[in-house]
Amino acid sequence: MALRAAGVALTALSFAAPSLQQKDPLTDFCRRFGHQTTVIDRRLYIDGGMVNWNPISQNPLNYTNKDLLWQDLNDTHEGMPQLHTGLTKNASVPDVSGGVLWADEVNKVFYLYGGEVTESPEDFALWAYDAVLDQWNVTGAPRDIQRVAWGAGAAVNERAEGYYLGGWLGDMSVPGWEGSPRMTSNLVRYDMETEAWTNNTGPDGAGRAEGVMLFLPASDNGLLISFGGVMDPDNNGTVVGDPMDNIHVYDIQSGKWYLQQATGDVPDMRRKFCAGATWAQDRSSYNIYLYGGQGINNITGFDDVYILTMPSFKWIKWFPTEPGPGNPHGLTTCNVISNSQMIIIGGYFAQHDECDSPTIWGTHNLNLGANGPQNAPWDLYYPNITEYFVPQEILDEIGGSPTGGATTTSPVEAWGHRDLPVRTRSFATKP
Ligand SMILES: *[C@@H]1O[C@H](CO)[C@@H](O)[C@H](O)[C@H]1NC(C)=O
Ligand SMILES: *[C@@H]1O[C@H](CO)[C@@H](O)[C@H](O)[C@H]1NC(C)=O
Ligand SMILES: *[C@@H]1O[C@H](CO)[C@@H](O)[C@H](O)[C@H]1NC(C)=O
Ligand SMILES: *[C@@H]1O[C@H](CO)[C@@H](O)[C@H](O)[C@H]1NC(C)=O
Ligand SMILES: *[C@@H]1O[C@H](CO)[C@@H](O)[C@H](O)[C@H]1NC(C)=O
Ligand SMILES: *[C@@H]1O[C@H](CO)[C@@H](O)[C@H](O)[C@H]1NC(C)=O
Ligand SMILES: *[C@@H]1O[C@H](CO)[C@@H](O)[C@H](O)[C@H]1NC(C)=O
Ligand SMILES: *[C@@H]1O[C@H](CO)[C@@H](O)[C@H](O)[C@H]1NC(C)=O
Repeated sequence: MALRAAGVALTALSFAAPSLQQKDPLTDFCRRFGHQTTVIDRRLYIDGGMVNWNPISQNPLNYTNKDLLWQDLNDTHEGMPQLHTGLTKNASVPDVSGGVLWADEVNKVFYLYGGEVTESPEDFALWAYDAVLDQWNVTGAPRDIQRVAWGAGAAVNERAEGYYLGGWLGDMSVPGWEGSPRMTSNLVRYDMETEAWTNNTGPDGAGRAEGVMLFLPASDNGLLISFGGVMDPDNNGTVVGDPMDNIHVYDIQSGKWYLQQATGDVPDMRRKFCAGATWAQDRSSYNIYLYGGQGINNITGFDDVYILTMPSFKWIKWFPTEPGPGNPHGLTTCNVISNSQMIIIGGYFAQHDECDSPTIWGTHNLNLGANGPQNAPWDLYYPNITEYFVPQEILDEIGGSPTGGATTTSPVEAWGHRDLPVRTRSFATKP
């Protein structure tokens, strides 16, 4: 404490503008939000987004995170992955919020697509971070693809493809944009091998943003599952929530979208939340876990966990089990590690200025099978937990045992389309 006080006094004497002072992402951390994450080789990378520095009373603004950080999934500090600085972030690479990092784990590269900057966006160029060389390369500027922000992104590692659904076009993402922001309705795809972009149709013509999209290794070439966020059904500027029982399913092989109604304990509509997917060892159920988010209309936000289990398409509320005030926050990230634990980082607390677990850098862990030492959803992160066991609350709805054997294998509501039972069937793991 004495050293810290001395540091503050020296700063005051140096006449340096406090906002220009270099802050240390390890020791000055208070909160993080709007960032992008991905995992390659047991390193969880954190790029861009905003931070609040500690103490927040002396650093009242939101500051852009200019560092590429990583958390070591093999090594813990106070029970969470140890944070590290020191990687290269080429000064030409934009520092964005609300974009996506698409990982190609085979080639050990991730691509930064989408997102907004705080002022004067430049023309969109795709940047790749080469994790082996610790080097950023610019890999081209596609002519017909724009940079959109706060869409729903997902990478399909097996196919070296990145996807991004919807997102906002506006003056913080598109150079020279005039007028009010507008949401796009399309599904953009990037093929990491051929470097080819395609701009496909979305679920419908409505602009949409701020929802989530997850890849499931089901059907022949995989499915993308998207839900939540906001939409502009008539593309005239009226923004409404997308009800959480609307589950948009994209079959990668056929390029077709389906709409499936979910049942059960359907969560309230929400935006800027995060989610991750896992599946039973025999793939008889695929389970998406969501956390928190901002509310829609007059609701501030959420501090809760829901599970969407498929192919029964049932929602299950997992946390909290008792009503309470909670600590609503959105703009978090979710990364599922080894199918079994979900690291939830950051978030913007709408209701207070308190820091978010600063000694562990706003890192939280959900044990997806609730089978860690606490036997509870919220637990410390353990590098040696590498298997997923279906928790009791899901088994109560779909039958079977922790390793699978679900007995409910179709939705309670009718299938949304006669192709869907075939598309959502499990498929053997590819070599
Ligand atoms: C984590 O451990 C695995 C297995 O021992 C090893 O292959 C990998 O390189 C390690 N990753 C890091 C970031 O230390
Ligand atoms: C910081 O960011 C949050 C989340 O986007 C926003 O609600 C808040 O108004 C911002 N605060 C400042 C001081 O800009
Ligand atoms: C980045 O550029 C270097 C040459 O400077 C090249 O060796 C490397 O393969 C490139 N990485 C990617 C991912 O393009
Ligand atoms: C950033 O990387 C690009 C491409 O590798 C290079 O041309 C440029 O000089 C780098 N810029 C800085 C500021 O390092
Ligand atoms: C995809 O195409 C549509 C229709 O031309 C366009 O409005 C949208 O901006 C495009 N999306 C991106 C991300 O460029
Ligand atoms: C957009 O269209 C809908 C349906 O016609 C209408 O209810 C809404 O008021 C319109 N919004 C604006 C801003 O014109
Ligand atoms: C929020 O809005 C809804 C409908 O507009 C209204 O029924 C409800 O009472 C409002 N809740 C609060 C807490 O203001
Ligand atoms: C993981 O390691 C902890 C000690 O850190 C040990 O108590 C626990 O039994 C191990 N769990 C598994 C699944 O191996």
